[in-house]
Order: sequence, then C-alpha cells, then structure tokens
Amino acid sequence: MSYPQDCWYVAATSDEVGDGFTARRIVDRPVVLLRLADGSIAALEDRCAHRPYPLSAGHREGDLVVCGYHGCTYDATGRCVRVPSQDNPPSGAQVRAFPVVERAPFVWVWTGTPGGERLRPPPATPCLQGDGWSSVGERRDVAANLMLLHEHYLDLTNVFAMHPEMVPPGIEALPPLEEVEVSEVAVSYKRELPKAPLAPWEAQVSGLDDVASYGRQETGAFVSPGLHRQTYTITGSDGPVLELVRTHGFTPASAGSTHVFLQLSWRGTAVSPDVGERLAAVFHEMATRDFAVLETMQRCLDEDATPRRYVNVQADRAALRARRILTSMVEDERGTPHP
Ligand code: FES
Repeated sequence: MSYPQDCWYVAATSDEVGDGFTARRIVDRPVVLLRLADGSIAALEDRCAHRPYPLSAGHREGDLVVCGYHGCTYDATGRCVRVPSQDNPPSGAQVRAFPVVERAPFVWVWTGTPGGERLRPPPATPCLQGDGWSSVGERRDVAANLMLLHEHYLDLTNVFAMHPEMVPPGIEALPPLEEVEVSEVAVSYKRELPKAPLAPWEAQVSGLDDVASYGRQETGAFVSPGLHRQTYTITGSDGPVLELVRTHGFTPASAGSTHVFLQLSWRGTAVSPDVGERLAAVFHEMATRDFAVLETMQRCLDEDATPRRYVNVQADRAALRARRILTSMVEDERGTPHP
C-alpha cells in the first residue's frame, strides 16, 4: 500500500453528486455517492452484497438503491432491506457505508477504520467557503501515485524548466525556502520573491499594468495526505493587492493513480473582471504539463523496480518531510515499526 487509508479524502465535488449515482474508485475500492432527499450525501461500497455487481449499475427508489441484477435493495446506511425472491433479507446483508462530510465544493469521505472519523475532522478549507473569496475548479485523473503529486507541488523550483512564462520578469532563481514548519502530520514552507514587474498572466488576472514592480509571497503546505494548499500573494506599496490560493484535493484511486480536485481561489483589490476564466485556463495548462511529467515518472517507476537512491537538493526539504510523514502513516497502518 503506498498511501494511508485512515484519512479523509475528497470523493467528489458537490455539483457532481445529484439524483443519480456518482461512481468512483477511492483507495482501490469502488464507491458510489448519491444525494438523499434531505440534501445529505451517502457513500456506499459500489458492490452488491449478493454478487460482484456494481450498485451504480442499478437504479434508485427515493433514498433506496436497487441492484440491477436481482433487485436486492439497500438503504442509505448500506443495510439490505429487501430481497425480491424471499420474505426477509438474510441477516447481516450489508454493504459498507463510508462517513461523509460535505463542505462545498468538496465532498469528503473517511476511508479508514470505522469510528476513526470521529477523532479528526476533514481539513479546513476557509478560502473555499466565502469570506471574500471566489473560486473555480476542475477534476483531473492522473496516472501517478499520491506521493509523487505531493512531492511535485512542494518543490516549485521546476517552474523555470516547465513553466517559464509563469515567472515574473527578471527573476532568475527562486530564493531558498525561508521557513519549513513541520508537525507530526503536516509540513508548510514560506518564501518571499524579490520585487519584479508582473508576468503577463499576473497582469491579466489582476488588471494591473505590467510596468510597476510588485513583491510576492508564496507559501505551500502538505495539510494532510488528501490536501495540498499553495498561496501566492502579490503585494504593492500599500500591502497585498491580490491573494491567490491553489487547493489540491488528492485522492488515491489506486497505487498508481490519483484523482485531483483542483480549486483556484482569489480575493483582493486588484482583480480583473474575467479573473476566473483566466485563472482556470492558465492553471489547466500548467496542470496538463505537470501531470505529463508525473505520469512519465510513474511509468519509469513501474518499468524499473530496481531500488535506487536518488540525490536530493536543498529545494527538496519540504517534499522530503512530507514523504516521511506519508511513509510513517502507511507503516503505522501496517503495524510495522518505522525509524
Ligand atoms: S447481484 Fe445484486 S441482487 Fe444479485
């Protein structure tokens, strides 16, 4: 297993779950999501208890789920309440129901030990819930492991090679990380960029002219195995003019594939009227290039399993901490000791 299971992961966005079924593979299990009459969401194992047939291939009768093979019917807790060929369902006929928390735009599911969800809530995402913030987002499926995604987004020195158009003019190298904060379960870093004129994309999303110089502060955080957050603040002489937050919900589909729920949020005094469309386009293109590299690395790992020690550089500091936390969590779940 290459990812922890005792976690909250984003299963879907709120607008994906409606009157029908939303079927998704999460931590290598089939899961079906459905919105109930009271507006809440149920997440059930997407396999009938009778035979290996997906419940999402059946139909709904209100809040009940009817299997499309022999008609066994389940309530929102996963209990089988009807078997058409006999009077009563067999005792214990049940599919697993996963705990769900909807905090739009994310729908979180707890995939770990039953009851463990009561010990910790899903991570907070305040910039996705108002207070002056606006957001746009998309979901992508990437053929790469969860760890590769976290490591990639905790080291943005790749922008010079991969996304040179994102770098403000005149900046030749990213300053080293000023601060890497580590707790038992989270890592975050911060860095300031020297003042520089706006890159074309910054001028487009802010509506500011690209002649004056601005400062930028960047932070990045491995918040949990299921959430990465990066902030990017453009600062004028009187303080911040535009705050951008890139939130990634990372959800393992399997050992070698991950669902990515990308959300871009903004607020500030310098915001162009079409900021949402522009940010969505710029970061969609960026993500496409990022995912191509990550999928190539995953193929390299799959093709050559020979253990080898890769060289690390200073910019890898935060990523290495995140890797250590993920590895510890996986080993704890396996019950094996770790250094
Ligand atoms: S497989 Fe679902 S009712 Fe038989």
